[in-house]
Amino acid sequence: MSTPAMKWIDLRSDTVTQPVPAMRAAMLDAPVGDDVYGEDPTVNALQDRMARELNFDAALFVPTGTQSNLLALMSHCERGDEYIVGADAHTYRFEGGGAAVLGSIQPQPIVQDADGTLPLDKVEAAIKPVDPHFARSKLLALENTWHGRALPFAYLEQAHDLAKRRGLGLHLDGARLYNAATAYGRPARDITQYFDSVSVCLSKGLGAPVGSVLLGSAALIDKARRWRKVTGGGWRQAGMLAAAAMYALDHHVGRLAEDHARAQHLADGLRSVPDINVTGCHTNMVFVDVPAPRLKALDQHLRSVGVRVSIGYLPHVRLVTHLHVSDDDIERTIAAFRSFTG
Ligand SMILES: Cc1ncc(COP(=O)(O)O)c(C=O)c1O
Repeated sequence: MSTPAMKWIDLRSDTVTQPVPAMRAAMLDAPVGDDVYGEDPTVNALQDRMARELNFDAALFVPTGTQSNLLALMSHCERGDEYIVGADAHTYRFEGGGAAVLGSIQPQPIVQDADGTLPLDKVEAAIKPVDPHFARSKLLALENTWHGRALPFAYLEQAHDLAKRRGLGLHLDGARLYNAATAYGRPARDITQYFDSVSVCLSKGLGAPVGSVLLGSAALIDKARRWRKVTGGGWRQAGMLAAAAMYALDHHVGRLAEDHARAQHLADGLRSVPDINVTGCHTNMVFVDVPAPRLKALDQHLRSVGVRVSIGYLPHVRLVTHLHVSDDDIERTIAAFRSFTG
């Protein structure tokens, strides 16, 4: 960065947000107790609230989205069972193979269409016959949003109908559930109605420092609570974190539309920059393809002017808007791309 006082514009992910002052104050004031004993009043209030709002029997507050998904898979499936999942789903690709490693659950990946859906004829064809040769197909896992894309709303019902017809459970990695709801212009419970379990992250676009919530039937959440303890996630005075989550639900859901509008504005601006190929803009994420030989120079240039982007998955550069990205930051980012000559 050229000027030391200049603020970084960090577009790598919506996970980089800092708790805002009022959120920190809410954390300090939170009544707490031992959550392993079920005695943390703020955790209990968060769980009750989310279960009520998203229309589930029960909810469980856990440290991460990865753990929340893992607990869901281990609660739906047993050793030797199988879950059907997108080949590019977070649960399958980016969670260390936890279901297989820790749950002895076999993944059956299905290549997704460009909109993030798993073609349902392929899902159906992948369901194994009941036969000792095969793993037992138990669960279908979807992700919404997926790389920022809200799955076509009608698809949720179609997937639900297939899962019910073929006796599969249906899990949603809803790390960005509220971004999807914002994109549909519907309450989040319109999405969650189709699923047997849903994992929601508070620590992404909603701006809480830590925490995800798994929702499901009382029986499923009982199992998940046991697996949470077994996997070392039985935390104690977690109410301070639950207070941040409550604050996020109260103050940061309604504003997600601003992130989406800024992402759109960023994509429109980048489209006007010569040699920059914007390949997608979905909810709060913008994707730009840059030829591999130019990537390092682009990254260095952007950093030199105070802009960070995610360059993990070639050739895509990902830019994510969030709580700390202003209109001015969008203009500066577009200018930063425009001044790249490498
Ligand atoms: C779609 C999706 N699911 C799950 C996770 C896992 O969340 P965590 O980083 O809290 O483990 C992420 C993290 O970025 C994600 O993007």
